[in-house]
Amino acid sequence: MDPVDPVAAAFDATPRRDFLPRGVRFRASYDGPLGIAAGQTNSQPRTVEAMLRLLDVRPGQRILDVGAGSGWTTALLAHLVGPAGEVLGLELEPELVEFGGRNLAGVDRPWASIRLAAPGVLGDPGGAPYDRVLVSAEPDELPQDLVDQLADDGVLVIPVAGTMLRVRNPGGVVTSHGRYRFVPLR
Ligand SMILES: C[S@@+](CC[C@H](N)C(=O)[O-])C[C@H]1O[C@@H](n2cnc3c(N)ncnc32)[C@H](O)[C@@H]1O
Repeated sequence: MDPVDPVAAAFDATPRRDFLPRGVRFRASYDGPLGIAAGQTNSQPRTVEAMLRLLDVRPGQRILDVGAGSGWTTALLAHLVGPAGEVLGLELEPELVEFGGRNLAGVDRPWASIRLAAPGVLGDPGGAPYDRVLVSAEPDELPQDLVDQLADDGVLVIPVAGTMLRVRNPGGVVTSHGRYRFVPLR
């Protein structure tokens, strides 16, 4: 029997169409970003998969999902950590906090939640350290504030100035993983 691929299982259990506005659900199988609201997007599935594989999530971990948007990545991460884990999605747009929260409620993973990001505060310094941090919006430089929110053996995956970076503790070792485009991290 094939070993279970946790990332593939998370995608199977978390259909993208349930995280899209009604008007674009028919495009759920399109492998590109799709508009949700407030000028923001539900990310390209292939990119989300690549990021989740880099993140290397384990059951029971605490995860921070910066840029929760449609709630899709928050729900995928919730599947990966399982009920012993915890996922906090942060989103700057109030309209998307509501949209993503509603979508997330549909998959019944109460160990995950989405919260409005505090203005001027990047990530969740008060809730740190996190085992894994996923960022789905792009800054020009690697934000030290987010690196500082990683646990001693934590991993951060973030697109920076067009390149996907993985930051691994101990030591904050940075590796590059290809070119990608994202909406700006604000
Ligand atoms: C590519 S979109 C959504 C991706 C999302 N993970 C999904 O699957 O739908 C990135 C989101 O990051 C949000 N964002 C940008 N800067 C942010 C910040 N500093 N804190 C929290 N969210 C932020 C944007 O409002 C946008 O909704």
